[in-house]
Amino acid sequence: MTRRSCAIYATGIVCAHLLIVGIALVVAQVFQTMIHSRLKKEITLTEKSQVFESWKNPPPPVYMEYYFFNVTNPEEFLAGGKASVKQIGPYTYREYRPRENVTFLENGTKVFAVNPKSFVFVPEKSAGNPEVDLIRTVNIPFVAVMNELNSYSFFLRTVVSMYMKGIGVELFMTRTVHEILWGFKDPVLTKVHSMKPEVDEYFGLMYKKNGTHEGEFVFHTGEENYLDYGKIDTWNGLRKMSWWSSNQSNMINGTDGAVFHPLINRNELLYIFAADLCRSIHLAYVEDVEVKGIQAYRFAPPSDVLMSPKDNPTNEGFCVPAGDCLGTGVLKVSVCREGAPIVVSFPHFYQADPMYINAVDGLSPNKEEHETYLDLQPTTGVPIRACKRAQLNIILKRVQGFPATKFINETIFPIMFVNETATIDDNSAAQMRTLLLIVTLVSNFPVLIVGMGIILLLVFVVLFCRNRQKKVGSAPPLWTNRSIKPHGYIGVKSVMGHDILFKFSPHSVICF
Ligand SMILES: *[C@@H]1O[C@H](CO)[C@@H](O)[C@H](O)[C@H]1NC(C)=O
Ligand SMILES: *[C@@H]1O[C@H](CO)[C@@H](O)[C@H](O)[C@H]1NC(C)=O
Ligand SMILES: *[C@@H]1O[C@H](CO)[C@@H](O)[C@H](O)[C@H]1NC(C)=O
Ligand SMILES: *[C@@H]1O[C@H](CO)[C@@H](O)[C@H](O)[C@H]1NC(C)=O
Ligand SMILES: *[C@@H]1O[C@H](CO)[C@@H](O)[C@H](O)[C@H]1NC(C)=O
Ligand SMILES: *[C@@H]1O[C@H](CO)[C@@H](O)[C@H](O)[C@H]1NC(C)=O
Ligand SMILES: *[C@@H]1O[C@H](CO)[C@@H](O)[C@H](O)[C@H]1NC(C)=O
Ligand SMILES: *[C@@H]1O[C@H](CO)[C@@H](O)[C@H](O)[C@H]1NC(C)=O
Repeated sequence: MTRRSCAIYATGIVCAHLLIVGIALVVAQVFQTMIHSRLKKEITLTEKSQVFESWKNPPPPVYMEYYFFNVTNPEEFLAGGKASVKQIGPYTYREYRPRENVTFLENGTKVFAVNPKSFVFVPEKSAGNPEVDLIRTVNIPFVAVMNELNSYSFFLRTVVSMYMKGIGVELFMTRTVHEILWGFKDPVLTKVHSMKPEVDEYFGLMYKKNGTHEGEFVFHTGEENYLDYGKIDTWNGLRKMSWWSSNQSNMINGTDGAVFHPLINRNELLYIFAADLCRSIHLAYVEDVEVKGIQAYRFAPPSDVLMSPKDNPTNEGFCVPAGDCLGTGVLKVSVCREGAPIVVSFPHFYQADPMYINAVDGLSPNKEEHETYLDLQPTTGVPIRACKRAQLNIILKRVQGFPATKFINETIFPIMFVNETATIDDNSAAQMRTLLLIVTLVSNFPVLIVGMGIILLLVFVVLFCRNRQKKVGSAPPLWTNRSIKPHGYIGVKSVMGHDILFKFSPHSVICF
């Protein structure tokens, strides 16, 4: 019994323990479960949590790029021809969207907040000066008023039509980008205002949207269930909407798109309530991507989200009034735009029925430029990069009593589209990479133990073999017949093909 062989045997014992413990931990996933439950606990909206500050004041810069469709042949279109448009832009605004009036409710399981957005022009990311650049587009207030008058008498329509013609209002208007976005005093609306004071005299696609919020939200904090983290409980006090025609379509599902629950898997659908689209949508996993050294899952709205009810009956509820449906790829949102015949789609009618694309010259939808996607870090659920693209259109059609519309073919006419993008800032990305490294190290700690066990095993085998060679004379013979054991030896263990006998000795259990 030498000190040397004792050390060898000790190595063997330690190695066996490491292997057993390590493999047990790997199989039981103790560390992974531990770190996951820690994540579920940490990723909640509480005053002390790490994510709360970035939820309240999101650090990544958000850019809103506006592109307009300049109409090049209005006369031809009014005479019954096909409209032709030219894309102009981008006009880029930096978006600031802090959460305000944050109040915890019901023992911290819910939180109230409003999310005002303000927009500051970024000249260096823009194609021109919005105060100067002119865009010829559809006279939206005029079309909205015509649409409204559809339910009135022919006589009234004719009178209004003649009046409009008298003051020089046409179906197309030429205005600066700034006016179209942020508002101008419109002659048609001014006239309406003098009769109906509740109608605003001003019109703009983003009129009164600078510094205002899209409603009061109550969110789940995720304290009760991590899957509810960031989910909308109520919007303007409502649990569901009432303007769509089915209960399913009226549901307010999911988060507002800024946060998602941790531990996302590829098979799930992520729900987002988009207040500007007046509905909930869902996103499905597309592929794995890498952004700033962070692995992420890309989620995008599958084509069934805007599919015609003919192909996807669950969308029937988005036809208002019930049964009045448009085709694939477009969504009429009159219900939440004061009745104006506004239609939203993806830019250039991406994923829409080709009849919409072909109805206007100058459109060329493609995936790279026109898809909407969201890249999420799956362990934490944090959005790493987001790109939301949506187009605003208006339905132009013949209206009895308005001779200017006499020859036009019913068209879903594109007006503008936006590209709202945000990418995680370098600081947060570095923090995220560190966090993920820790998560990976901790959850793989048992693998480390197994690895050490294997290394020790190799050391043990090498030492053992060398030791045996040295004292070949005194060593017990190799017993090929396992049933015959010399006195004092127990067990037969096969190490790399050699049978080894373990000797039992009352003085030392570990040495042979
Ligand atoms: C207008 O509509 C009619 C019938 O729907 C169609 O035959 C014609 O080709 C259309 N014209 C244009 C320019 O699209
Ligand atoms: C938010 O708080 C301000 C005062 O701090 C108050 O004037 C405003 O009405 C509040 N907004 C909402 C939506 O509660
Ligand atoms: C808040 O917690 C207290 C004590 O835990 C409990 O008595 C009370 O019912 C809770 N309130 C709500 C709204 O959950
Ligand atoms: C929006 O409001 C902010 C300040 O509240 C201002 O700096 C910015 O210029 C405004 N944006 C537009 C487009 O008017
Ligand atoms: C858009 O079209 C109008 C009318 O043809 C033209 O005056 C204007 O310069 C165009 N806008 C841009 C930005 O090219
Ligand atoms: C919607 O739900 C309400 C109650 O939750 C029910 O009374 C109503 O019949 C449902 N409507 C439809 C169209 O399913
Ligand atoms: C809301 O979520 C439910 C499932 O939870 C789904 O059946 C329904 O279609 C969703 N509604 C919308 C509008 O996405
Ligand atoms: C936004 O989308 C447009 C085209 O749709 C593209 O040209 C532009 O590069 C995009 N911007 C960003 C910041 O990705």
